[in-house]
Amino acid sequence: MLAKVPNFDFSPEGRARIRNTLTPPSYVAYLVFMMLILALIVQYLFALADGHGPHGDDEVEAGPVSIAPVEFTVSGHISQFVQEWPGKTGLSEYPSSFTRGVEPKPIHSHNDYWQKVPFYQGLSVGAVSTEADVWARDGDLLVGHEQTALDPKRTFRSLYVDPIVEVLEKQNPTTQFSNNTRCGPFDESCFQTLYLWVDLKTGVKETWPLVAAQLAPLRERNWLTKWDGKIIIPGPVTVIGTGSSNWEVLIANKTRERDYFVDAPLLKIGAESEQMHADGKTPLYDSSSSPFATTSLIAAVGPIKGELSEKQLKKVEKLVKIAKERGILTRFWETPNWSTRRRHNIWRQLADIPVGLLNVDDLEDAAYGDW
Ligand SMILES: *[C@@H]1O[C@H](CO)[C@@H](O)[C@H](O)[C@H]1NC(C)=O
Ligand SMILES: *[C@@H]1O[C@H](CO)[C@@H](O)[C@H](O)[C@H]1NC(C)=O
Ligand SMILES: *[C@@H]1O[C@H](CO)[C@@H](O)[C@H](O)[C@H]1NC(C)=O
Repeated sequence: MLAKVPNFDFSPEGRARIRNTLTPPSYVAYLVFMMLILALIVQYLFALADGHGPHGDDEVEAGPVSIAPVEFTVSGHISQFVQEWPGKTGLSEYPSSFTRGVEPKPIHSHNDYWQKVPFYQGLSVGAVSTEADVWARDGDLLVGHEQTALDPKRTFRSLYVDPIVEVLEKQNPTTQFSNNTRCGPFDESCFQTLYLWVDLKTGVKETWPLVAAQLAPLRERNWLTKWDGKIIIPGPVTVIGTGSSNWEVLIANKTRERDYFVDAPLLKIGAESEQMHADGKTPLYDSSSSPFATTSLIAAVGPIKGELSEKQLKKVEKLVKIAKERGILTRFWETPNWSTRRRHNIWRQLADIPVGLLNVDDLEDAAYGDW
């Protein structure tokens, strides 16, 4: 026997329940929802008819990327064309485009190795100058501000020399049209050198031979600015030793060839206490030894309240002038970081003089800020 079919008659309570769930507010919500669906369907159909629907694009993108027949939708717009062109033609790159569009700026990336990405971050905003603090340790050069920050993997080679070689290889490609060029890292300006400051945390005699040896990959490719005993021969990278004062071992012999330079003490230039060459007449630091002279801004003008006062500004201008007369540019470090407005105002004052390089910790701020 078949089981008894249950009775489908609604009980009075059941009917009441159904009435309560489909009361007018629910009907309204249901209708609105259906109308929305209908509207979407109509819009989709219009889009298809217009040629802007998803299928319209798919047709163009299909097939292998080739240079010859580049097809764009008839009803496309110029912005769409511009956006799609690189992918469709593969013609938007050129051999030296790695630093395309980066405007070189007179910015020094102070203690650059503190940036998340040393060297490259400064390069990406157009800083023409960068700085590595080095410690001679176990025959290598470790980069860091203090001993607790040293790591055997973070070396002068790994953070600076190798990346610089890599970038310069991109900027100096060997093609059927050119070879052996000596361009700096900036695509916009082949002749802009990169200043690489090597701040010695250990003695000159112990450390500089390591620096000079580790520059070999740049030297072999003829990428270092040189003093040939008579003139300076500019190159893509200009190495400057800093952080020490015993530079005479490197620069005393003015006729000796070198492919590195040293930081001159700005406060001593032209002063009575200035260090002289062995002949007792010519100064040790000149344009052949030093592209730049530097000093702490506070050491030069005393404590700074707000921005530089008229008197302080005059002092800075005078230092810049004395160095300039000797063919040397300037950089003032220990400039205030805070507040941002104060920092910007002081950068503005220094840039207006102008100093040779602005000393910068916040690269993006200096490169894009409207100070
Ligand atoms: C590079 O330059 C030299 C001399 O200027 C030339 O003889 C040589 O063919 C060039 N090589 C290439 C790959 O262009
Ligand atoms: C200076 O350097 C030149 C060239 O390298 C060399 O001939 C000369 O002997 C050097 N002079 C001294 C005093 O070392
Ligand atoms: C600004 O900040 C940097 C990085 O923290 C530091 O090295 C520098 O000494 C600071 N300048 C001053 C004037 O405190």
